Amino acid sequence: MVAFSFLFVALSLVSFSFGAPTVSDATTLQTSSGNPLSVLCGLPLIGQLLGKLCPPKQSLKSSLTVKTAIGTAQGVADSGINRFAVRYASAERWAESNVATTWSLPNNGTNPSALPLVCPQQNIDDSAFSEDCLSMLLYVPQSFTPSSSNPVFVWVHGGSFVAGSATDTGLDGSNLAVATQSIVVVPQYRLGALGMLSPNGSTNLGLKDVINALTFINKNIAAFGGDTSRVTIAGQSSGATMIRSLLAVPSASHLFQSAILQSDPMDYGFLSVTTQQTLQSAYNGLINCAASDYSCQTALSVDTILNAQVALLNESLSLDASVGTGEPLRTVNDGTLITSPLDSTAPFPSVNKPILVSTVLNEAALTIYGEFTSPIPQDEFLPICQVNLDNARAATVDNSSFYAPPAAAKDSGDSSGDARVQLQTLGTDYIWRCSSWTFARNWKTNGGSVYVGMYSVGATYPGNEAVPFCTKPGSVCHQDDIEIVFGTVPHPTSAQSALINEMQARYKEFMLTGSPNVPAYPPWYEATSSNVNALNLGGSGEVAVGSCEPSFWGESVPYDYQIFNI
Ligand SMILES: *[C@@H]1O[C@H](CO)[C@@H](O)[C@H](O)[C@H]1NC(C)=O
Ligand SMILES: *[C@@H]1O[C@H](CO)[C@@H](O)[C@H](O)[C@H]1NC(C)=O
Ligand SMILES: *[C@@H]1O[C@H](CO)[C@@H](O)[C@H](O)[C@H]1NC(C)=O
Ligand SMILES: *[C@@H]1O[C@H](CO)[C@@H](O)[C@H](O)[C@H]1NC(C)=O
Repeated sequence: MVAFSFLFVALSLVSFSFGAPTVSDATTLQTSSGNPLSVLCGLPLIGQLLGKLCPPKQSLKSSLTVKTAIGTAQGVADSGINRFAVRYASAERWAESNVATTWSLPNNGTNPSALPLVCPQQNIDDSAFSEDCLSMLLYVPQSFTPSSSNPVFVWVHGGSFVAGSATDTGLDGSNLAVATQSIVVVPQYRLGALGMLSPNGSTNLGLKDVINALTFINKNIAAFGGDTSRVTIAGQSSGATMIRSLLAVPSASHLFQSAILQSDPMDYGFLSVTTQQTLQSAYNGLINCAASDYSCQTALSVDTILNAQVALLNESLSLDASVGTGEPLRTVNDGTLITSPLDSTAPFPSVNKPILVSTVLNEAALTIYGEFTSPIPQDEFLPICQVNLDNARAATVDNSSFYAPPAAAKDSGDSSGDARVQLQTLGTDYIWRCSSWTFARNWKTNGGSVYVGMYSVGATYPGNEAVPFCTKPGSVCHQDDIEIVFGTVPHPTSAQSALINEMQARYKEFMLTGSPNVPAYPPWYEATSSNVNALNLGGSGEVAVGSCEPSFWGESVPYDYQIFNI
């Protein structure tokens, strides 16, 4: 019986296709005529087969410049949008990053159309990443002038804190920027061991990178027509965990006005300092460098660092069960930067920022249907629960009507009903939906406004099609909300187009006013401290509360952050 790893299935399937990261300026637009593959790349099917070997499509036409306080920004113009890439910070290995004081292109490059190399991560060719990865992409509607004053939307990508980048599939911000009349900014931050496991014990380097990205935006976005008093931060999955972390950092509070959290696995909570130290000392053993031996640490190759990270992740659950399975390396409640667990284990700080919290219909389907490829008899439901929850929680879950077997299976006394149905619902409720709703109630109780939604229409994110459940009509798997928000669904159905338009109209209003209510669409009621009023996004009306009622998850069945008292 396996302890399934929520999120890791999704992670291993993540694919890169939007603007394959360029190795150097030499492989980008300007020299495409010199690329021996350029003729083949132009043929639709063959170009697709060659994938990364081909340069990005030559749709960006002319270059342009913008004067900022720290130098001249060079960008490229496409229809309706200007795109800029910039290195917003730099860092020595395992040291805190410093905000850039001059405007420079990523990758030490000179070509304004080149995309940033991604941060070091597994399953990517070494030539596509660099430790010098603290860059961001800015998408600016062409109608904006430096004297105009427009909202700014900052998207923090997901990938379980070990993968992902500003050039992930679907994250081209052009459509979203035009539709919401905002500047869309997508920063990168250090991942995995390089961002979370500094051998001398410095914590939260990746989170500090994102704070530096926000600081850079605060200092420089006005030159592009951005309004520093209307910055909305948003993210999905571990990107949303990063947003929740920022909400728990008082010293970053002045850098944004509102926040959006999509599919945050809130069950886990942050890491505690002691858990971080346990992981850290195990990691230092794996790389065989003492905490104070910086010359040993700087001599390591990136491959050695990543291989040690893989080995650590493999044993992290046995080192400390509180790491959980979804994102064992994550932000740490260190008491200095993050000053509150921001969960039900401690008094919630008083808050006033408006937030929007969403999940998708089948968050856990990638894990459950990816792990168990054929039906599971009902009598295995409890044993599987016991491996993934403790016995007490498993017993309560098994005894509850929320996860009862289908009536047919029960009545006939047979065990043929597929228990994956209940396991999927259970995983979705436990890791994402109910824990997000508990957070929303706490937020409202303590003074902030919060709108809760659940996507019942999505767009299959590349990689998710490997799990057949995710392509069934009506399924919405983890990550399937991303291309809806960005308006980057390759061939949208009418239901997808309708939801894209609706979400972009609501996001536009939310950035301006803190409310996602627009006259053209049904009312989206604020959560109250007892009723989250979760709007069915893509369906109609509100989502049934079910097991997310306050007396069940979070009370009869505690979340992991309660069990481990993180
Ligand atoms: C860890 O090392 C980095 C790089 O030398 C340094 O900037 C940082 O202050 C050190 N942190 C601690 C806690 O010693
Ligand atoms: C840019 O140049 C600096 C200094 O030589 C180097 O440390 C860094 O790795 C370079 N960045 C990239 C992406 O090549
Ligand atoms: C992961 O751990 C198991 C046992 O705990 C071990 O057999 C396996 O070799 C490890 N894999 C890696 C990649 O370290
Ligand atoms: C199971 O549910 C029944 C009815 O709701 C309740 O009376 C009983 O105490 C529960 N048993 C356990 C072990 O939770």
